[in-house]
Amino acid sequence: MSNDHRLAVITGASSGIGLAYAENLAERGYDLILVARRRNRLEEIARQIQTKTARSVEAFVADLADAKDLSRVETLLAERADVEVLINNAGLGALGPTSHVTADALENLIKINVLALTRLTHAVLPGLLKRNSGSIVNIASMIAVMPTPSGAGYSATKAYVLNFTRSLQMELSKTNVLVQAVLPGPVRTEFFEASGLTKAPFPDELFMSPEELVRSALLSLDRRELICFPSLEDEAHWSAFEDARVALSRALMKSGRPATRYAGSSPM
Ligand SMILES: NC(=O)c1ccc[n+]([C@@H]2O[C@H](COP(=O)([O-])OP(=O)(O)OC[C@H]3O[C@@H](n4cnc5c(N)ncnc54)[C@H](OP(=O)(O)O)[C@@H]3O)[C@@H](O)[C@H]2O)c1
Repeated sequence: MSNDHRLAVITGASSGIGLAYAENLAERGYDLILVARRRNRLEEIARQIQTKTARSVEAFVADLADAKDLSRVETLLAERADVEVLINNAGLGALGPTSHVTADALENLIKINVLALTRLTHAVLPGLLKRNSGSIVNIASMIAVMPTPSGAGYSATKAYVLNFTRSLQMELSKTNVLVQAVLPGPVRTEFFEASGLTKAPFPDELFMSPEELVRSALLSLDRRELICFPSLEDEAHWSAFEDARVALSRALMKSGRPATRYAGSSPM
């Protein structure tokens, strides 16, 4: 192991955003462990990045919806003392009207977008805290703040990712461990196809390439930003959203009594 060894673990690295993180982090000098299900693709990607960058790149084939496989990745994250960065990127959409999406597809969505991301964060955190350094990047979506029909389950999982990340940020505020939420808009990847749609429900001009997205998100990480909306031009929109949330939180903390409009008994 060379002296400049720094290790990043990226889930969902066999395509799209995860692949772009892999290429970019290797260019920045990180050794990589790439996690996904498609062995051939993952091994080919690992070979190509290794050849191009001379970094060590390992393919770790795992289905994050499978409890045993997930546990193998957790063990890896808990036992490797050299993990500096975890990119929790693997995810899917299970899009469509909720009554058309199967219950199994919704369960699978929650297993990957929520459960795996939570367990992997939990597994890597003690080591990062012990060394008081490193980063976890959780890939959410702009849909986390845009509940939408035909994306009920998806939007809910990404709202979870946002709130999970934000609460963790508060817990870790006195440490050097950074947990960032990235909230992309539409990105040109295999996502919509994998999520059961033949056509993405967004106009072309809203799409970013995965390379542009990751370049922006890593610049944001360099600046130690906690929240990254890669396509949001005017950050005042997010500040206004936050101000409204804080005002609501304050109002909710004023009393435990039923509000005046709920006084009296309801007609049966
Ligand atoms: N594309 C967009 O418009 C967009 C917008 C906002 C947020 N996002 C988020 O960005 C992340 C990456 O998506 P993408 O756009 O890059 O889509 P993608 O090209 O479909 O990539 C998804 C990745 O997740 C992996 N994955 C899926 N199920 C898995 C499982 N059970 N176990 C392990 N790995 C699994 C896939 O690998 P294998 O199939 O090889 O397992 C693949 O590498 C997701 O969290 C997505 O929600 C995407």
